[in-house]
Amino acid sequence: MIGVKPLVSTEVLPSVAGRVPAAEQPVLRLDDLTRVYGARTVVAIRLWAVAAGQHSLILGPSGSGKTTVLHLIAGLLRPSRGSVRVAAQELGALTPAQLDAFRGRTIGIVLQRLHLIPALTVRDNLRLARTLARLPPDPARIDTLIADLGLAALAGARPSRLSQGEAQRVAIARAVVNRPALILADEPTSALDDANCDAVFTLLRAQAEASGATLVIATHDPRLQPLLQHRLELPAQP
Ligand SMILES: Nc1ncnc2c1ncn2[C@@H]1O[C@H](COP(=O)(O)OP(=O)(O)O)[C@@H](O)[C@H]1O
Ligand SMILES: [Mg+2]
Repeated sequence: MIGVKPLVSTEVLPSVAGRVPAAEQPVLRLDDLTRVYGARTVVAIRLWAVAAGQHSLILGPSGSGKTTVLHLIAGLLRPSRGSVRVAAQELGALTPAQLDAFRGRTIGIVLQRLHLIPALTVRDNLRLARTLARLPPDPARIDTLIADLGLAALAGARPSRLSQGEAQRVAIARAVVNRPALILADEPTSALDDANCDAVFTLLRAQAEASGATLVIATHDPRLQPLLQHRLELPAQP
């Protein structure tokens, strides 16, 4: 299975991890990942690894834990047990401040609720993503993304003026602006008709590839299932 070989060496000799070439490291590895709420176990994943460039799906019916898994991968939620490793970094080893900085640089996130900042323009929402990750300004990168995503006429607009589709494109731009290694998207197509489903998937994949990122999509949308072969299937909750 992909990722097992470097895994063994990094586990036995943690100090070797930094010397394994980046291309051989999985961009994501979940080990014995468990999340419990009260007496209920909502996530229990023995092992799942994603190689760099191996765009993937997290599948399962509603309530199976897809969103919870994405939040664990993003470090927005801590596991009850087990580990998440992103680009060879074990998230549990980071302090909250380190985790915020790491997430800002390494992980792009498109959640179901888009969380654009309402008081800021489209351009300033993208600028803020760089600032929060403590990256230097990069107006050329932001201009290119705004143009690529068809948002040029809206760069100075606030989110309340955008259609849902436009707001989602801004969220995709924000997810890729820092050139993350990993992009996580939660149900990006579930509310869309077939034409827009296709367009958003194509856009996400194209932007991930242009930014050198690996895409992981959590979805119960059957239209996406034939499009990516590497997948984590979550069982229905009892
Ligand atoms: N903060 C929480 N407290 C208690 N239960 C939760 C919490 N968050 C999610 N759950 C439960 O975990 C299960 C998985 O939820 P979720 O990850 O949202 O599933 P999905 O995204 O696949 O629909 C659900 O039964 C949900 O009710
Ligand atoms: Mg969900």
